[in-house]
This record gives sequence, structure tokens and C-alpha cells, in this order.
Amino acid sequence: MAKSSVLSGIQPTADSFHIGNYFGALRQWVQMQDTHECFYTVVDLHAITAEFDPKVLKKRTLSSFAQLLAVGIDTKKSTVFVQSQVPQHPQLAWVLSCFTGFGEAGRMTQFKDKTQKGGQERSSVGLFTYPILQAADILLYQAQSVPVGEDQRQHLELTRDLAVRFNNQFGQTFVVPEAFIVKESAKILDLQDPTAKMSKSSPQGCVFIMDEPDAVMKKFKTAMTDSGKEIKYDPANKPGVSNLLNIIKAITNEEMSAIEAQFANKGYGDLKTFTGELVVEKIVKPFREKTLALLGDEKELNSLMSEGAQKAEKVASATLKSVYEKVGF
Ligand code: TRP
Repeated sequence: MAKSSVLSGIQPTADSFHIGNYFGALRQWVQMQDTHECFYTVVDLHAITAEFDPKVLKKRTLSSFAQLLAVGIDTKKSTVFVQSQVPQHPQLAWVLSCFTGFGEAGRMTQFKDKTQKGGQERSSVGLFTYPILQAADILLYQAQSVPVGEDQRQHLELTRDLAVRFNNQFGQTFVVPEAFIVKESAKILDLQDPTAKMSKSSPQGCVFIMDEPDAVMKKFKTAMTDSGKEIKYDPANKPGVSNLLNIIKAITNEEMSAIEAQFANKGYGDLKTFTGELVVEKIVKPFREKTLALLGDEKELNSLMSEGAQKAEKVASATLKSVYEKVGF
């Protein structure tokens, strides 16, 4: 039987992915390669829906692509590509936009949040239609499963609605995808504010995979911990300590009780140093070095990118062709 297919995308909106992206998403992407037919894309078209600088965008797209390979996405197993290099994405998005209600798009909470922050006038129409482009990303590859965070659930619902609507009107065209929501327990919190999700907007509390090892150690050593002395997994009362324990668990896969036991007679300082060193050794150092090596050979990297785009385009063009025929183009 053919493997079931998966598509996911990540925006090139930072110089580096962080360990929250890794544990919350990228690690699942790597694991799914052995059991699924995977398509992974750096969504640079989506990245211009917010303020951007062309030179920076280009650099980040290249670096994001390299980082995907560095964390273990394998171009021999998966199709890895840059969204703007596959013209079928905006082409299908246009058709889908003509099947999306204005009110329906207006109900997307991510759009509402972002416009509230940036103001109506500064929000582009591209930001408004962002989820329709995302639907096109998914439907072009007939993906059955889409690994995403909880914040993308509504976009996935829209994607499903559009697929069903089109299929009902024109006959079976798209696979109706399922969201594969990554477990909440994999959520890594801000080291400075362990009540918030780790995010690039709070760089001191965020551990980037491209950080220098010394910088990573410093971030862990100054991580916020809690009152008391006991090292115990208790997210409600000890969010800082629990976050560090959770990071250890994400790496070692041990039972929480076994991890707690290792720190029975130790202090917060020991826990911070231990976690920092573990993250440096197992995540930051290997991923950073691999990324830098890949970026050192830009010619080779560009050729991997165009191979990925070609592989993607084969699949995407077949879907688009059938859509174009059905709508009368
Ligand atoms: N909107 C997604 C995010 O911000 C990124 C994305 C774009 C995506 N296209 C996608 C995710 C297709 C999954 C599938 O995380």
C-alpha cells in the first residue's frame, strides 16, 4: 500500500529556528519521514504577509532550508522545497480564494489577532488570504495529514471545508486532510517567563539552534526558576523548574520521576547547568555545525533546493491541472 502523505510548512521569519520549534514540530517531521510520504516547505510566500526586508528574507529562506536538513530532514526520503519556487501554490490559491466566503476568511482568529496588533490599515490583503494560500499548500499534495500546532487548527478546518466544497461541486479532486496536532506536552516555554510559549519575540528566553553554545549556557543559567528549593515537576506551582525538566525529558525520553530522582539532593543551579549542557550537546552544537557546513556550500544547497522544487512541482502540477480543467480553464 502506498504510504499516506504528509505536508507541513514553516515560515522563514527568523535567522534561526528555536528549540520550541524543534520539539514542537520539526522533530515530528523528521520521525514521519520513515512512515509517510512527506512534503516539507519553507513558506516564503507567507513570510511577506508581515513586514520584511528582501535581503533578509532571502538569507533566512536559505538558512531555514539548511536548518531543516541539519535537524534531519532527508532530501532522499522527503520532498523539501521553497514555496515560491513552485508556482502552483499561488495559482491554486487564487482558485480557492474564489470559493472562500469573505466572512469565512474574516473569522480566522489569527488574522483578527494580527490586525488588532498591527492596525487595519497596515494589514495587507495578503494577510487576509494567508489561510487560503496555506490550504493550497496542503491540497496540492493530496496530503492526508498535516502536523501543526494547536494555533493552526482553524486554518486546517478551512482547508478541509474548501476541499469538501470543491469536491462536492466538481467531483473528487482533493484529499480532505486531517490536522495532526502535536502534543501539548512537547510545548517548551520561555526561559525568562515560563508561563509563555517559547518565542523568537523574547530572545533572552528563547534558545535558538543557531545560538553560540556559550550564549545558550548563559540563557539557561539565568533562566527564571521558582520559590522553594525542591526539584519537582509541578507546572502550576513551579513553572520554571518544570519547563527545564520538560526539556530534559524531551531529549532523554526518560520518565519524569526518574529525572526528578536524579536531582533529589541538588539545587536549581545544578538543574540549569545540566539542562543547558544537554541542550548544547544534543541539539545546538550538532544542528548548528551541520547548518553552517551546509551554508558553506551555497551552490550545493541551491541545487538541493531546485531538485526539491522540481519533485514538488511534479505532484503539484498534476493537481492543478485537474483543478484548471474542472473550472473550465
Ligand atoms: N501557517 C503555518 C504557521 O504559521 C505555516 C504554514 C504555511 C503551514 N503553509 C502551511 C503549515 C501548510 C502546515 C501546512 O505555522
